[in-house]
Amino acid sequence: MVTVPARTDPTRDWDSDYHAPALVDDVVELLGTGTLVLDGTLGGGGHSAALLSAGVARVIGIDRDPDALAAATARLSPAAAAGQFEAHQGNYAALDNIPALHALRFNGILLDLGISSHQIDDAGRGFSFREGAPLDMRMGADAPRTAADILNEADEGELATLFRNYGDEPRAGRLAREIVRRRDTRPFVTSDDLVGAIRASFGSRSGAPEFARLFQAVRIAVNDELAGLERALPDLRDRLAPGGLLAIIAYHSGEDRLVKHAFRAWSEDCTCPPKHPMCTCGGNHSLGTVITRRALTASAGETAHNPRARSARLRAWQRAR
Ligand SMILES: C[S@@+](CC[C@H](N)C(=O)[O-])C[C@H]1O[C@@H](n2cnc3c(N)ncnc32)[C@H](O)[C@@H]1O
Repeated sequence: MVTVPARTDPTRDWDSDYHAPALVDDVVELLGTGTLVLDGTLGGGGHSAALLSAGVARVIGIDRDPDALAAATARLSPAAAAGQFEAHQGNYAALDNIPALHALRFNGILLDLGISSHQIDDAGRGFSFREGAPLDMRMGADAPRTAADILNEADEGELATLFRNYGDEPRAGRLAREIVRRRDTRPFVTSDDLVGAIRASFGSRSGAPEFARLFQAVRIAVNDELAGLERALPDLRDRLAPGGLLAIIAYHSGEDRLVKHAFRAWSEDCTCPPKHPMCTCGGNHSLGTVITRRALTASAGETAHNPRARSARLRAWQRAR
């Protein structure tokens, strides 16, 4: 039997005041024929709404952020009433802590990484570098340290590693030194304190692109985003039913690299040369197949409408049947 790819309803727009989801058509084409889908980064529920509308029988959404659960639950209340949708607060990197998910296997799992527009727009959450914002940046109360905690307490080496690894900052040591020097006289409290340290380190010509990149680096550390994703990947793979599909949208090169390498490693058979008398590679055997040979990206039309989609890279992997 040929499976006809699911399509979104072209008359529907999946954006909401909460968030405009990226690559919805691709997500629906990949996951829209599943019966039970886990949306591990529910946000405003845009992808979940599109999947339900395409015919997915049941979607379970999780998010670290209670605001996301409230927005998506309100939006999807008709589906919830019909038993097709439920939402739980939690971390996709700790699925075992969500009792409702115990023993479930999914036909599809979606991660749409990073933060939602709502989180950026809510000045009190401190995700943006707009003036006077508190240095918080926690996606949920499960994150143990705020951005201010890290900037005030981490040693110079940890700060330099953070800006180098998560912010691709070649002059990370200079910025770390400046932060440590400044906090000796006054603790970091608001976005202005971090902007001031960046300006002092890199000159007054540093502007929005540097602030965005370096604030994002701090956010990644606050929420343990890269290490959390790395830990989560094998667990998510093992939550797939045979033939199930894992689709991940990344917006940061480090995340995309982790996903690409994991999908490739899970798909490899023994890599020893054919004439090798015995296996020395550890006896890999393929657990499934990479579905997207190259990451899928947004069209010019989509990025014109939703600039945030410009950096979205979607990769998918299918578990063997
Ligand atoms: C880009 S938004 C998702 C938007 C969503 N796809 C939509 O259509 O509205 C990312 C969401 O993932 C959540 N999130 C990020 N990391 C998470 C994690 N480790 N566990 C659960 N939720 C997470 C954030 O709080 C945010 O709401």
